[in-house]
Amino acid sequence: MGGADQPDRAAWLQGPAAHCNPQPGKTENPWRLILLGPPGVGKGTQAEMLHLRLHACHLSTGDVFRAAGARKECDLSPAMKAALEYMRRGDLVPDSIVWEMVLERSGCLRCGGGFLLDGFPRTIHQAESLKRLMENQNIPLHAVVNYELPQGDIVQRLSGRRTCKECKAVYHVTERPPKIADACDRCGGALFQREDDRPESVKVRLEAYEEKTAPLTEFYRGMRVLLPVSATGTPEEICERTVAALEARKAKTPATGVPHS
Ligand code: AP5
Repeated sequence: MGGADQPDRAAWLQGPAAHCNPQPGKTENPWRLILLGPPGVGKGTQAEMLHLRLHACHLSTGDVFRAAGARKECDLSPAMKAALEYMRRGDLVPDSIVWEMVLERSGCLRCGGGFLLDGFPRTIHQAESLKRLMENQNIPLHAVVNYELPQGDIVQRLSGRRTCKECKAVYHVTERPPKIADACDRCGGALFQREDDRPESVKVRLEAYEEKTAPLTEFYRGMRVLLPVSATGTPEEICERTVAALEARKAKTPATGVPHS
């Protein structure tokens, strides 16, 4: 479990009863970041790359739901079954279910390695709940990276996405193809297309983003933590751009608790 190139996220994915191995690399001055942006913009891809650069843990709410979806039906609570139904349609899962799931895992927010929150918060209500929790527990939020990309590129990224059944690594049929067709480079697992990447679900997801998640940019601008980053170009270019933007922010705002290397 875990390792330099595979984040150990047992406590996040399985719940508080599971324990993670200590994160390798730097744990002094950990980064605590939110990755914001429409579905398919590349948040998960960037979170994996930023994990290698910043050593903070990749905490994706979508991954928790998908991990639950891989369990036997009889092992799922009624709330989790309902959550998976919303997800299949492309709708947002109700705030109460999401918040209960995050609250159970709030130890991950206090982890010494820091965090990269991906896919959460997604509504103003979730953002306010997270803000209260972090303030009450004295956890600083260093920045909210807002990835921006034209909608045509987003649909293209989503329609070509393939995910490994085993280790959840993400590929794209033309932009980031695996070395052997339909097999994961990392573990050899079979690649599949996510149910919510079908055109009818993608439409619902983009509408839900515009209506419920896009307003978070104003919320975080108001908190002076919003960091817009263009998501055009290769994943490597976007990662460099993100790290440069974070470093620039750190240089400009040394008194706000932004980590120093
Ligand atoms: P979630 O898993 O969070 O999905 P999402 O936000 O819709 O984001 P995606 O995972 O689709 O995209 P991404 O931005 O991570 O892009 P990726 O890196 O994969 O949520 C799924 C569902 O769970 C929601 O719809 C909802 O139902 C539920 N849910 C989760 N959290 C919730 C919450 N807080 N509240 C309520 N409901 C919640 O990249 C996409 C593709 O593009 C890949 O194929 C990749 O290889 C490719 N790619 C990436 N970067 C590049 C690049 N630079 N150039 C070319 N291709 C690229």
